[in-house]
Amino acid sequence: MRVPLNDLRRCNASFAAGFRAAFDRVVARGSFILGDEVAAFEAEFAAFCGVGHCVGLANGTDALELALRAVGVQTNDDVATVANAGMYSTVAIRAIGARPRYVDVDDDTLTLSPSRLDALLTPTTRAIVATHLYGRLAAIDEIRRIATVRSIAVVEDCAQAHGARSDGAHAGCLGDIGCFSFYPTKNLGALGDAGAITTNDAELAHRVRALRQYGWREKYRVDVDGGRNSRLDELQAAMLRVRLPHLEQENAARRRILSTYVERIRHPEIRVPPPPGEDCVAHLAVVRSAKRESLRRHLHASGVGTDIHYPIADHRQPLTRDAAAVALPVTERACAEVLSLPCFAAMTSAEVDYVIEACNAWGP
Ligand SMILES: Cc1ncc(COP(=O)(O)O)c(C=O)c1O
Repeated sequence: MRVPLNDLRRCNASFAAGFRAAFDRVVARGSFILGDEVAAFEAEFAAFCGVGHCVGLANGTDALELALRAVGVQTNDDVATVANAGMYSTVAIRAIGARPRYVDVDDDTLTLSPSRLDALLTPTTRAIVATHLYGRLAAIDEIRRIATVRSIAVVEDCAQAHGARSDGAHAGCLGDIGCFSFYPTKNLGALGDAGAITTNDAELAHRVRALRQYGWREKYRVDVDGGRNSRLDELQAAMLRVRLPHLEQENAARRRILSTYVERIRHPEIRVPPPPGEDCVAHLAVVRSAKRESLRRHLHASGVGTDIHYPIADHRQPLTRDAAAVALPVTERACAEVLSLPCFAAMTSAEVDYVIEACNAWGP
C-alpha cells in the first residue's frame, strides 16, 4: 500500500460539481474582484468564527502583515512570536521593518509558552503573534491576560486552525485579530492562494479593508500607509463557499485520524502529541523522534508519505542570523525531531491502520 501525506484530488473530488457550479455563477455574473462572492464569504466565515467582521485577502502571510499594521506595529517595534512555525510571522514582521522577539514553546503542545513570554516583552513590544500550530490552540487565555496587562495586541495566526474552539469560542475571535490562510492544503482550502482576517473590532476591520486595496479609504483616495493589492478574488471566494459548510465534518475526520494515531502508535522511540479535543482540528499529525531520519526512511520504504513542519527554526534561517544568539532549547529540539504523518479528511481507515502498523514495525 502507498499512503500519501495528503491527497487534494481525493479531498476535492466530492466538491467537483459544487466548484463547477460556483465557477459558472461567477463567470456568468462577470464580476471578478470584490463582488458578491467575496462579500458573501466574508459574512459566512465571520458567522462561522463568531466574529463581527471578516476581510478577505490574497493569502495568509498578507493577513499577518496587514493585521500587524492594523494593530499599530511600525518600523523598529518588537513583536513576540514563536520560531517553530515556518517563518511566516517572521516574514510579516520583517516586512514592516519590525523585529521578531522569539519566545520558546511548550514541550507538549509546541505552541508559545506563556511562562516564557513575560520576560521577553519590552517597552517597544506592540503585538504578540499566537500561532495555533498544527491545528491546536495556543494557550490563548494566558497570552491574552499577559498582553492585556501591558496593552499589547494579540494577533492569532489561525492558518492551521480553522474551526478549533476554546469553550465554544472559535480561533479567530480569541485575540484582537485573527489571520487565516486558505492555501489548498489547509483545513479550509481554496483552489489557489487566499486568506482573511477576522475581528470584532470595526476599526481594525476598516483599516485592513483599506490596506488590502492600496490604502484607499475611498476609491483613488489613499490615506493609509503600508497598503498594497491583497484582495481575495471572486473565484476563490466562491470555491471557499462550497467547502465551508463541510468544514466541521472534515475537521472531525482529521481529529479521528489523529486520535487513532495517539491511541495506537506504541513505540518507545516515537512520541505522539496530546490527544485532540475541541481545541485541536488536527491540521497536521506530528509525532516526534530523536531518530527522525531513520523513522522517515523506514516510512518512505514502506510507502508512507511524510514531511517536516518545520526543519529550520526562524532564528536559525540564513536570513535571520542576527537572532542566532537567542537560545530556544525546546524549539530547537522540536525542529530536529518533528515528523508529519498522513492526515487528511479523505483518508481511509485501512490507510490509517497501515501508517500505524508501519510506525510500530520500525526497528531503529
Ligand atoms: C502557521 C501559518 N501561518 C501563515 C501561513 C501563511 O499562509 P500563506 O501560505 O497563505 O501565505 C501558513 C501557511 O502557509 C501557516 O501554516
